[in-house]
Amino acid sequence: MSYSINMSFGLLVLLAISGIVVVGQDFKPAPPPPLVPGEGRQAQEVVHEYVGSKKCRMCHGQWHKSWQKSVKGQSFQILKPGARAEHKRKVGLDPKRDYTSEAACLTCHTVGFGQPGGYRIALPNDEKAKRFAATREGVGCEACHGPGGGFTQVMGDIYLKERPYEQQEVRRAGLRSIEPQLCLDCHDSKAPCIADDSPPLKVDDDALRTGLGFHQHFPLRFRKQ
Ligand code: HEC
Ligand code: HEC
Ligand code: HEC
Ligand code: HEC
Repeated sequence: MSYSINMSFGLLVLLAISGIVVVGQDFKPAPPPPLVPGEGRQAQEVVHEYVGSKKCRMCHGQWHKSWQKSVKGQSFQILKPGARAEHKRKVGLDPKRDYTSEAACLTCHTVGFGQPGGYRIALPNDEKAKRFAATREGVGCEACHGPGGGFTQVMGDIYLKERPYEQQEVRRAGLRSIEPQLCLDCHDSKAPCIADDSPPLKVDDDALRTGLGFHQHFPLRFRKQ
């Protein structure tokens, strides 16, 4: 990816991250800051909205490309009738059935189902809602990295200023530290689609580092070590 951006794209990015214009998608502007000092709420309770994988693509093109090709990028499509028929039969699911509107599946096969800014089932004729849903399909970026409503704003600032930053700055704005338990919440042997005899997912540092099953890793330029 290139950080040498021209003025007009820089401006678009600036407006997009501040929620003033919408660049080819339907995410809602971020809500007003939920944390009011003195109201007795803790910083950890701030609820950030999901913004969708397409927004991450704006600045993380190579990650997005590699993710899209991975099993994670395809994990919504397999809910459609006909897909993975043999496996569905094996675990007692109906290969002819369309599972793309079923809550029992969407919790693990979309981003943020039922949460602010997360996946919502679109009615067949609602094109706008369909476009919104498309950016939250599959195990998208925020299913692992956390809802981006806060940290994308900080990243936008780093991007425009090409300035160094410390990881804790983006963490404070909601970027998650990815622990094995997060993977296991979905890779749960009780899931309706996982065969009883299938070996449990082994998540170690190696799996997180190699990106097996999600995306390749690429070097960062601005993060201070
Ligand atoms: C608790 C989270 C969870 C829920 C709920 C869930 N899935 Fe999955 N699904 C997964 C995970 C994790 C995998 C990958 C498992 C693997 O390959 O080891 C997966 C894989 C699949 C696969 C591909 C399996 C293969 O080996 O080809 C299909 C098809 C599938 N799910 C369909 C469904 C359907 C249909 C539902 C709803 C009835 C559903 N899932 C509900 C987590 C879930
Ligand atoms: C939101 C739910 C969710 C989370 C979180 C999640 N996964 Fe998955 N994972 C899935 C689904 C669904 C699939 C199935 C995709 C398919 O078969 O097309 C899958 C597939 C995989 C596969 C391929 C499995 C196979 O048998 O081919 C690997 C490896 C994997 N995930 C590793 C991880 C790791 C490591 C993490 C944590 C960093 C993680 N996953 C977090 C839902 C999840
Ligand atoms: C299945 C979980 C998962 C998904 C989905 C996922 N990532 Fe990651 N990502 C990780 C893990 C694990 C790391 C390495 C550890 C860390 O940074 O916490 C990582 C690291 C990164 C990094 C830091 C540089 C690097 O390559 O290590 C960037 C940038 C990134 N991911 C962007 C994205 C974007 C953009 C998407 C969506 C297109 C995405 N990720 C989807 C798990 C995931
Ligand atoms: C406006 C541009 C922009 C957008 C949009 C954006 N990022 Fe970033 N992101 C950056 C920049 C710049 C960095 C710092 C990269 C570097 O050091 O080279 C970064 C860093 C990261 C890192 C590594 C942070 C660390 O220090 O560990 C992750 C993970 C990440 N982004 C994920 C995402 C995800 C997920 C989304 C979408 C929800 C997203 N980003 C949207 C520009 C952006």
